[in-house]
Amino acid sequence: ARAREDSRTGQPLLLGVIGDPIQHSKSPVMHTAALEACGLAGAYLPFHVKGNRLEEAIRGIRALGFRGINVTVPHKVEVMNYLDRIDEGARLIGAVNTIVNDDGVLTGYNTDGIGFIRSLKEEAAPDLRGKRVLVLGSGGAARGIVYALLQEGPGLVTIANRTTEKARELANEWAHLGRLTGCGMEELDAILAEVDLIINTTSVGMHPHVGDCPLDSRQIPEGIVVSDLIYNPLKTELLQQAEVRGCTIHSGLGMFIYQGAYAFEHWTGRSAPVEAMRAAVLKSMH
Ligand code: ATR
Repeated sequence: ARAREDSRTGQPLLLGVIGDPIQHSKSPVMHTAALEACGLAGAYLPFHVKGNRLEEAIRGIRALGFRGINVTVPHKVEVMNYLDRIDEGARLIGAVNTIVNDDGVLTGYNTDGIGFIRSLKEEAAPDLRGKRVLVLGSGGAARGIVYALLQEGPGLVTIANRTTEKARELANEWAHLGRLTGCGMEELDAILAEVDLIINTTSVGMHPHVGDCPLDSRQIPEGIVVSDLIYNPLKTELLQQAEVRGCTIHSGLGMFIYQGAYAFEHWTGRSAPVEAMRAAVLKSMH
Protein backbone atom coordinates (compact mmCIF):
# COMPACT_ATOMS: atom_id res chain seq x y z
CA ALA A 1 0.00 0.00 0.00
CA ARG A 2 1.20 3.50 -0.80
CA ALA A 3 2.18 5.37 2.35
CA ARG A 4 -0.18 8.22 3.21
CA GLU A 5 1.00 11.31 5.04
CA ASP A 6 -0.66 13.69 7.43
CA SER A 7 -3.50 14.93 5.20
CA ARG A 8 -3.44 18.42 6.73
CA THR A 9 0.15 19.24 5.91
CA GLY A 10 1.29 16.69 3.35
CA GLN A 11 4.22 15.97 5.69
CA PRO A 12 5.11 12.69 7.40
CA LEU A 13 3.56 12.46 10.87
CA LEU A 14 6.14 13.28 13.53
CA LEU A 15 5.31 11.68 16.87
CA GLY A 16 7.14 10.72 20.03
CA VAL A 17 7.22 10.25 23.78
CA ILE A 18 9.13 12.23 26.41
CA GLY A 19 10.04 10.96 29.86
CA ASP A 20 12.87 10.33 32.29
CA PRO A 21 13.79 7.49 32.09
CA ILE A 22 12.45 6.59 28.63
CA GLN A 23 14.63 3.68 27.50
CA HIS A 24 12.15 0.95 28.46
CA SER A 25 9.03 2.58 27.00
CA LYS A 26 7.01 0.28 24.75
CA SER A 27 5.27 3.25 23.12
CA PRO A 28 7.69 3.53 20.15
CA VAL A 29 7.21 -0.12 19.21
CA MET A 30 3.43 0.17 19.60
CA HIS A 31 2.93 3.39 17.62
CA THR A 32 5.40 2.41 14.90
CA ALA A 33 3.28 -0.70 14.37
CA ALA A 34 0.14 1.45 14.30
CA LEU A 35 1.54 3.82 11.65
CA GLU A 36 2.60 0.85 9.57
CA ALA A 37 -0.74 -0.95 9.89
CA CYS A 38 -2.53 2.23 8.70
CA GLY A 39 -0.08 2.85 5.85
CA LEU A 40 0.82 6.26 7.28
CA ALA A 41 4.24 7.81 6.62
CA GLY A 42 5.81 9.04 9.83
CA ALA A 43 7.88 8.17 12.86
CA TYR A 44 7.42 7.80 16.62
CA LEU A 45 10.58 8.24 18.66
CA PRO A 46 11.53 8.18 22.37
CA PHE A 47 13.09 11.36 23.80
CA HIS A 48 14.93 11.40 27.11
CA VAL A 49 14.01 14.79 28.57
CA LYS A 50 15.04 15.88 32.07
CA GLY A 51 12.83 18.17 34.14
CA ASN A 52 15.01 21.24 33.60
CA ARG A 53 14.58 20.87 29.83
CA LEU A 54 10.84 20.14 29.77
CA GLU A 55 9.69 23.64 28.79
CA GLU A 56 12.25 23.81 25.96
CA ALA A 57 11.21 20.36 24.76
CA ILE A 58 7.55 21.41 24.61
CA ARG A 59 8.43 24.55 22.63
CA GLY A 60 10.35 22.27 20.29
CA ILE A 61 7.12 20.48 19.38
CA ARG A 62 5.92 23.66 17.65
CA ALA A 63 9.31 24.58 16.22
CA LEU A 64 9.88 21.16 14.66
CA GLY A 65 6.29 20.60 13.54
CA PHE A 66 5.59 17.48 15.59
CA ARG A 67 1.94 16.43 15.36
CA GLY A 68 1.84 14.67 18.70
CA ILE A 69 3.77 13.80 21.82
CA ASN A 70 3.06 11.41 24.66
CA VAL A 71 4.25 12.47 28.08
CA THR A 72 5.26 9.97 30.70
CA VAL A 73 6.79 9.85 34.19
CA PRO A 74 7.78 12.25 35.74
CA HIS A 75 6.43 15.05 33.50
CA LYS A 76 2.65 14.47 33.33
CA VAL A 77 1.78 17.18 35.85
CA GLU A 78 4.39 19.86 35.15
CA VAL A 79 3.86 19.73 31.39
CA MET A 80 0.44 21.32 31.89
CA ASN A 81 2.19 24.66 32.53
CA TYR A 82 3.54 24.79 28.97
CA LEU A 83 0.45 23.99 26.89
CA ASP A 84 -2.05 26.33 25.21
CA ARG A 85 -5.19 24.36 26.08
CA ILE A 86 -6.06 21.53 28.42
CA ASP A 87 -9.00 19.20 27.95
CA GLU A 88 -11.50 19.34 30.82
CA GLY A 89 -10.93 15.76 31.96
CA ALA A 90 -7.15 16.20 31.97
CA ARG A 91 -7.55 19.41 33.97
CA LEU A 92 -9.66 17.67 36.62
CA ILE A 93 -7.34 14.67 36.75
CA GLY A 94 -4.40 17.06 36.99
CA ALA A 95 -2.19 15.27 34.47
CA VAL A 96 -1.58 15.15 30.72
CA ASN A 97 -0.20 12.16 28.82
CA THR A 98 -1.01 13.22 25.23
CA ILE A 99 -0.29 16.48 23.40
CA VAL A 100 -1.85 17.35 20.05
CA ASN A 101 -0.29 20.11 17.92
CA ASP A 102 -2.83 21.92 15.70
CA ASP A 103 -0.77 24.39 13.67
CA GLY A 104 1.20 25.52 16.71
CA VAL A 105 -1.63 25.31 19.24
CA LEU A 106 -0.82 22.61 21.81
CA THR A 107 -3.72 20.84 23.54
CA GLY A 108 -3.21 18.39 26.42
CA TYR A 109 -5.36 15.31 27.00
CA ASN A 110 -5.32 12.45 29.46
CA THR A 111 -6.03 9.11 27.77
CA ASP A 112 -4.87 6.87 30.65
CA GLY A 113 -8.18 6.65 32.51
CA ILE A 114 -10.45 6.27 29.49
CA GLY A 115 -7.92 3.86 28.00
CA PHE A 116 -8.16 1.74 31.11
CA ILE A 117 -11.96 1.79 31.12
CA ARG A 118 -12.19 0.87 27.43
CA SER A 119 -9.90 -2.09 27.91
CA LEU A 120 -11.74 -3.17 31.07
CA LYS A 121 -15.07 -3.09 29.21
CA GLU A 122 -13.77 -4.93 26.17
CA GLU A 123 -11.78 -7.54 28.08
CA ALA A 124 -13.49 -8.20 31.42
CA ALA A 125 -16.52 -6.14 32.51
CA PRO A 126 -18.71 -4.90 29.62
CA ASP A 127 -21.20 -3.01 31.78
CA LEU A 128 -20.06 -0.89 34.71
CA ARG A 129 -23.41 0.80 35.33
CA GLY A 130 -24.55 0.27 38.93
CA LYS A 131 -21.44 -1.74 39.82
CA ARG A 132 -19.77 -1.41 43.23
CA VAL A 133 -16.10 -0.76 42.69
CA LEU A 134 -13.14 -0.78 45.08
CA VAL A 135 -10.13 1.23 43.91
CA LEU A 136 -6.87 0.55 45.77
CA GLY A 137 -4.61 3.62 45.92
CA SER A 138 -5.27 7.32 45.50
CA GLY A 139 -2.25 8.69 43.63
CA GLY A 140 -1.94 9.99 40.08
CA ALA A 141 -2.99 6.74 38.41
CA ALA A 142 -6.06 6.43 40.65
CA ARG A 143 -7.20 9.95 39.71
CA GLY A 144 -7.34 9.06 36.00
CA ILE A 145 -9.11 5.76 36.65
CA VAL A 146 -11.68 7.12 39.12
CA TYR A 147 -12.50 10.08 36.87
CA ALA A 148 -13.11 7.86 33.84
CA LEU A 149 -14.96 5.29 35.96
CA LEU A 150 -17.40 7.91 37.24
CA GLN A 151 -18.43 8.65 33.63
CA GLU A 152 -19.74 5.05 33.44
CA GLY A 153 -22.38 5.45 36.14
CA PRO A 154 -21.11 2.97 38.76
CA GLY A 155 -23.32 2.32 41.82
CA LEU A 156 -20.60 3.13 44.36
CA VAL A 157 -16.87 3.76 44.13
CA THR A 158 -14.78 3.23 47.27
CA ILE A 159 -11.20 4.48 47.25
CA ALA A 160 -8.97 2.72 49.81
CA ASN A 161 -5.48 3.91 50.52
CA ARG A 162 -2.59 3.17 52.89
CA THR A 163 -2.70 6.87 53.82
CA THR A 164 -6.41 7.12 54.63
CA GLU A 165 -6.51 10.91 54.48
CA LYS A 166 -5.54 10.97 50.79
CA ALA A 167 -8.39 8.61 49.88
CA ARG A 168 -10.86 10.79 51.79
CA GLU A 169 -9.57 13.94 50.09
CA LEU A 170 -10.01 12.51 46.60
CA ALA A 171 -13.50 11.24 47.43
CA ASN A 172 -14.47 14.70 48.71
CA GLU A 173 -12.97 16.49 45.73
CA TRP A 174 -15.11 14.53 43.29
CA ALA A 175 -18.21 13.97 45.43
CA HIS A 176 -20.24 15.92 42.83
CA LEU A 177 -19.33 13.46 40.06
CA GLY A 178 -20.93 10.33 41.58
CA ARG A 179 -21.28 8.13 44.66
CA LEU A 180 -17.79 8.10 46.05
CA THR A 181 -16.22 7.35 49.45
CA GLY A 182 -12.69 7.09 50.82
CA CYS A 183 -11.35 4.77 53.52
CA GLY A 184 -8.27 3.16 55.01
CA MET A 185 -7.04 -0.39 54.38
CA GLU A 186 -8.22 -1.53 57.84
CA GLU A 187 -11.86 -0.81 56.91
CA LEU A 188 -11.82 -3.06 53.85
CA ASP A 189 -13.54 -6.21 55.13
CA ALA A 190 -17.03 -4.66 55.17
CA ILE A 191 -16.55 -3.14 51.72
CA LEU A 192 -15.18 -6.33 50.19
CA ALA A 193 -18.31 -8.20 51.23
CA GLU A 194 -20.30 -6.07 48.78
CA VAL A 195 -18.04 -5.38 45.84
CA ASP A 196 -18.31 -6.36 42.14
CA LEU A 197 -14.94 -5.12 40.92
CA ILE A 198 -11.51 -4.41 42.45
CA ILE A 199 -8.97 -2.19 40.66
CA ASN A 200 -5.39 -1.98 41.96
CA THR A 201 -3.73 1.33 41.07
CA THR A 202 -0.85 1.03 43.55
CA SER A 203 2.59 -0.18 42.55
CA VAL A 204 2.40 -3.11 45.00
CA GLY A 205 3.39 -6.26 43.05
CA MET A 206 5.23 -4.44 40.27
CA HIS A 207 8.59 -5.71 39.06
CA PRO A 208 10.95 -6.20 40.89
CA HIS A 209 8.56 -6.65 43.86
CA VAL A 210 6.84 -9.62 42.24
CA GLY A 211 4.96 -11.60 44.91
CA ASP A 212 3.76 -8.59 46.93
CA CYS A 213 -0.02 -8.27 47.10
CA PRO A 214 -2.06 -5.19 48.06
CA LEU A 215 -4.76 -7.38 49.70
CA ASP A 216 -4.69 -10.46 51.89
CA SER A 217 -5.71 -13.11 49.34
CA ARG A 218 -8.43 -14.44 51.70
CA GLN A 219 -10.09 -11.02 51.40
CA ILE A 220 -10.72 -11.40 47.66
CA PRO A 221 -14.39 -12.31 47.10
CA GLU A 222 -15.05 -15.32 44.86
CA GLY A 223 -16.16 -14.81 41.28
CA ILE A 224 -15.86 -11.02 40.97
CA VAL A 225 -13.72 -9.04 38.48
CA VAL A 226 -10.20 -8.07 39.61
CA SER A 227 -8.06 -5.67 37.61
CA ASP A 228 -4.46 -4.57 38.11
CA LEU A 229 -2.92 -1.58 36.32
CA ILE A 230 0.48 -3.24 36.50
CA TYR A 231 1.62 -4.98 33.29
CA ASN A 232 5.08 -6.05 34.41
CA PRO A 233 4.52 -8.81 35.39
CA LEU A 234 1.45 -9.48 33.23
CA LYS A 235 -0.06 -11.58 36.00
CA THR A 236 0.64 -10.02 39.39
CA GLU A 237 0.32 -11.85 42.70
CA LEU A 238 -3.07 -10.14 43.15
CA LEU A 239 -4.30 -11.50 39.80
CA GLN A 240 -2.92 -14.96 40.53
CA GLN A 241 -4.73 -15.08 43.88
CA ALA A 242 -7.91 -13.73 42.27
CA GLU A 243 -7.77 -16.42 39.60
CA VAL A 244 -7.53 -19.12 42.28
CA ARG A 245 -10.70 -17.65 43.76
CA GLY A 246 -12.58 -17.96 40.48
CA CYS A 247 -12.42 -14.27 39.55
CA THR A 248 -12.26 -12.80 36.07
CA ILE A 249 -8.87 -11.11 35.85
CA HIS A 250 -7.72 -8.11 33.81
CA SER A 251 -4.11 -6.90 33.52
CA GLY A 252 -2.71 -3.42 32.88
CA LEU A 253 -1.50 -4.27 29.38
CA GLY A 254 -4.90 -3.35 27.93
CA MET A 255 -4.75 0.06 29.59
CA PHE A 256 -1.38 0.71 28.02
CA ILE A 257 -2.62 -0.34 24.57
CA TYR A 258 -5.82 1.73 24.73
CA GLN A 259 -4.23 4.89 26.15
CA GLY A 260 -2.05 4.65 23.04
CA ALA A 261 -5.05 3.94 20.83
CA TYR A 262 -6.84 7.09 22.02
CA ALA A 263 -3.67 9.16 21.52
CA PHE A 264 -3.27 7.76 17.99
CA GLU A 265 -6.90 8.63 17.24
CA HIS A 266 -6.36 12.23 18.44
CA TRP A 267 -3.32 12.61 16.17
CA THR A 268 -4.56 10.88 13.03
CA GLY A 269 -8.37 11.09 13.15
CA ARG A 270 -8.44 7.36 12.32
CA SER A 271 -9.50 4.43 14.43
CA ALA A 272 -6.42 2.81 15.94
CA PRO A 273 -5.33 -0.66 14.77
CA VAL A 274 -5.57 -2.02 18.29
CA GLU A 275 -4.71 -5.64 17.54
CA ALA A 276 -1.57 -4.70 15.56
CA MET A 277 -0.53 -2.49 18.48
CA ARG A 278 -1.12 -5.24 21.03
CA ALA A 279 0.77 -7.79 18.93
CA ALA A 280 3.77 -5.47 18.60
CA VAL A 281 3.92 -4.83 22.35
CA LEU A 282 3.56 -8.52 23.24
CA LYS A 283 6.28 -9.46 20.74
CA SER A 284 8.67 -6.91 22.26
CA MET A 285 8.06 -8.34 25.76
CA HIS A 286 9.28 -11.82 24.89
P1 ATR B 1 0.91 6.67 40.61
O1 ATR B 1 1.01 7.80 39.66
O2 ATR B 1 1.46 5.38 40.08
O3 ATR B 1 -0.47 6.52 41.15
P2 ATR B 1 1.64 7.90 43.11
O4 ATR B 1 0.88 9.12 42.74
O5 ATR B 1 2.98 8.04 43.76
O6 ATR B 1 1.92 7.00 41.82
O7 ATR B 1 0.68 6.99 44.03
C1 ATR B 1 1.09 5.75 44.52
C2 ATR B 1 -0.10 5.09 45.22
O8 ATR B 1 0.27 3.76 45.57
C3 ATR B 1 -0.52 5.77 46.49
O9 ATR B 1 -1.89 5.58 46.70
C4 ATR B 1 0.32 5.01 47.55
O10 ATR B 1 -0.21 5.04 48.85
P3 ATR B 1 0.16 6.28 49.86
O11 ATR B 1 -0.72 7.43 49.43
O12 ATR B 1 -0.21 5.76 51.21
O13 ATR B 1 1.61 6.54 49.68
C5 ATR B 1 0.22 3.61 47.00
N1 ATR B 1 1.34 2.76 47.42
C6 ATR B 1 2.62 2.80 46.95
N2 ATR B 1 3.36 1.87 47.57
C7 ATR B 1 2.56 1.23 48.45
C8 ATR B 1 2.73 0.16 49.39
N3 ATR B 1 3.91 -0.44 49.54
N4 ATR B 1 1.65 -0.24 50.11
C9 ATR B 1 0.44 0.37 49.95
N5 ATR B 1 0.24 1.38 49.10
C10 ATR B 1 1.25 1.80 48.35
